[in-house]
Amino acid sequence: MTSALSPIYGRLPVSFDHGKGIWLWDTQGKRYLDALSGIGVSCLGHAHPALVKAISDQAARVLHTSNLYEIALQEQLAQRINAISGMSEVFFANSGAEANEGAIKLARLYGHLRGVKVPTIITMDSAWHGRTIATLAATGSEKARAGFDPLPDGFLQVKYNDLQAIKDAAQQCPDVVAILIEVLQGEGGIRPSDLDYLKQLRELCDQNEWLLMIDEVQSGIGRTGKWLAHQWAQILPDVITLAKGLGGGVPIGAVAARGPAAGILKPGHHGTTFGGSPLVCAAALAVLDTLEQDDLLGHADRVGTMMLARLHQALDDLPDVAEVRGRGLMIGIELKRPCGELVRTALAQGLLINVTRDKVIRLLPPLIISQTEANELVDRLVDIIKGFLQAP
Ligand SMILES: Cc1ncc(COP(=O)(O)O)c(C=O)c1O
Repeated sequence: MTSALSPIYGRLPVSFDHGKGIWLWDTQGKRYLDALSGIGVSCLGHAHPALVKAISDQAARVLHTSNLYEIALQEQLAQRINAISGMSEVFFANSGAEANEGAIKLARLYGHLRGVKVPTIITMDSAWHGRTIATLAATGSEKARAGFDPLPDGFLQVKYNDLQAIKDAAQQCPDVVAILIEVLQGEGGIRPSDLDYLKQLRELCDQNEWLLMIDEVQSGIGRTGKWLAHQWAQILPDVITLAKGLGGGVPIGAVAARGPAAGILKPGHHGTTFGGSPLVCAAALAVLDTLEQDDLLGHADRVGTMMLARLHQALDDLPDVAEVRGRGLMIGIELKRPCGELVRTALAQGLLINVTRDKVIRLLPPLIISQTEANELVDRLVDIIKGFLQAP
């Protein structure tokens, strides 16, 4: 049967009917351990009572009013985001790409206000910032960009985790106004940047009056064991972007700004019909409350540390394993050969994982995963990897 859908996705042959906690059940009744959370979204797992209640209560009151009117829940959520991030103002979007698009607009306006003719943003190789035209230009994946020329100017891509590369690029281009970076690259293969590098990045931005813009779309909202992954380096960026885990499953994005980045966007500069609706703000507030009340940040740190230790122990000595790495519940296992087929192998065995950059097995389990469930995940995954590597 031909599908009514555009063939954009190479979908796996499974459809889920319902979920509970870290478990999903398909339409045939088979149970799966969800170690991917819908690509880092379902941080509270599935059907979490607090999130279900917040969404259904809000749906019964009002779903949407538009940004023509005041939205008290948006104000509350912005205050919470400022409190956890050290930012001073927030505007809302509907996805990660849209949040980054907003950050890019903010940086360009910041540049123009300073008289810079072609405001240029430094971005990183292997970066992933989204699939809109501007965020594609900021994204380091040739595969994602192919076929969509002309992409907008104003981006300068440099080597990730290499301060000198930024200095060299800036020497060639006097119009740099900002750096946009994931401190722990997700799609790029769970690649962390050094904490020292991030501190130096902050200094470099201060010296040059560039905005330091951190894309926390995948790494934020507790995923690495802190609210935001850059907090491990104890730095304060000028702009952060959020999405994915913020809504726990409803589509929301956010751009938070402070210092020189605050007050740049004024009435008429930006807008969105759906962004920050009462529904998504109620959901995001429930997510943040639950993460805090249940100490899920500390939990993600502890469980993630245990999982990483066990994965190191089981896999480090295998000749075809390149590296086990990550932080909190954002974990990558890089093999020395392509392993995309592992996604189907795991699926057949009731385990949902992902492979990015052809060789990196990516785990982003819900932050509510228990120690017992995490142990089960490690045991099952190690068996699958060993079976794959032993096969002729
Ligand atoms: C770091 C990062 N930024 C931006 C995006 C784009 O987010 P979205 O798919 O919600 O547009 C992603 C998506 O994977 C991401 O990982």
